Amino acid sequence: MKVLVVGGGGREHALCWKLRHSPSVSTVVCAPGNPGIARVARCEPVGAEDLDGLVALAVREQPDLVVIGPEAPLVAGLADMLQRKGLKVFGPNAAAAQLEGSKSFAKKLMTEAGVPTACYERFTRANEALELVRRWGAPIVVKASGLAAGKGVVVARSVEEAEAAVRDMLAGNRFGSAGHEVIIERYLEGEEASCLFLVSGETILPLASSQDHKALLDGDQGPNTGGMGAYSPAPCVTPEVADMVLERVAKPIIKELGRNGIEFIGTLYAGIMITEDGPQVLEFNVRFGDPECQPLMARLRSDLGEVLLAAAEKRLHGVELEWDDRAALCVVVASQGYPGTFEKGQEIRGLDAVEREGVIVFHAGTAERDGRLLNAGGRVLGVTALGDTVREAQQAAYRALGHLDWPGGFYRKDIGWRAIAHEEGAA
Ligand code: AMP
Ligand code: GLY
Repeated sequence: MKVLVVGGGGREHALCWKLRHSPSVSTVVCAPGNPGIARVARCEPVGAEDLDGLVALAVREQPDLVVIGPEAPLVAGLADMLQRKGLKVFGPNAAAAQLEGSKSFAKKLMTEAGVPTACYERFTRANEALELVRRWGAPIVVKASGLAAGKGVVVARSVEEAEAAVRDMLAGNRFGSAGHEVIIERYLEGEEASCLFLVSGETILPLASSQDHKALLDGDQGPNTGGMGAYSPAPCVTPEVADMVLERVAKPIIKELGRNGIEFIGTLYAGIMITEDGPQVLEFNVRFGDPECQPLMARLRSDLGEVLLAAAEKRLHGVELEWDDRAALCVVVASQGYPGTFEKGQEIRGLDAVEREGVIVFHAGTAERDGRLLNAGGRVLGVTALGDTVREAQQAAYRALGHLDWPGGFYRKDIGWRAIAHEEGAA
């Protein structure tokens, strides 16, 4: 079959790479793709937010399946538009995508479904939000309600920091309209994990566990980013935790959507904090995580094309996923300055030597000019390695990264540290 993938980041490179290796798939087309994706798919220069352009491309290409990677086109209704043209789509419609597109919608639905999540209030006026911040005290969490590329959340350690975040979002214009409504919620203590599910109507199929590192700096310090690295499996997701997340989170939220007349087909991503009182939901996303997708695809053994088509056709029931027993770990290389401003167009060298170490280099914000590879975005590469343990996968990834020749790039040196602490604590 022919598959059209929408997007051009590290997640989409991992999806295209896995589809390329799926026996059921003969052709992969990607819009817009990137230079790494161009090695496994035919790239078409249509941006992931150019909805009309994407519909025209899909109508022209007539793929057997369209897989939508990023959240923005999902929230904007691309899946609905493609379905109206008779195409099969893996990715939720706009109504279901509100679970990610509006934190206030997600919080309300969780409350109605009885899904465990931090206690919260929502505000559009700064003075009312500031009053709650002073009443609750710190630590406290301030979130822009709309899409903000993973950067719209401030975990404030002091009341002053929370006040500044509220002013920034509600009085300033830091996140544009995404920040005109804020959620303020209680700070939760615990270990985080990403629990992803393939969902097709009533069928909910858990993926292997994974965990990302959202903080910019080693030791999980510094501001939040889209994700600086990830690994799978995540040892804190014991079979018992996985079962609780399926029964208390995924099933009730999909059922609650259904009660509201909304069907979900796609990936449900529950960001979980494992607290003393059990798993609590930090956020929902409606797509594969980036970078969680990279280690997940490195471990998936099943035919991805077949599985996603089954989901799109509502025949996911009875499908079982097969995983490599080894661990996979992805280290993100970002442009110096990310998540703030950075200089584009710097040459990246040494990738052949990195790849000779047996790792997979997924591209995100790269561009090619005159045969030279350049940085073109904040997160640029995702170097992904397999190993018998997370420790071994980590060593393999960093050994390979030693060959990277890009002075303007940086990466965390401790991706996987929590999992390794679990591994070594258990040994
Ligand atoms: P979100 O986009 O809502 O998942 O938030 C991004 C990150 O902020 C999460 O991955 C957590 O590290 C942190 N965070 C979000 N909500 C909370 C909370 N209620 N308590 C503690 N940390 C949180
Ligand atoms: N890695 C977090 C996300 O994809 O939202």
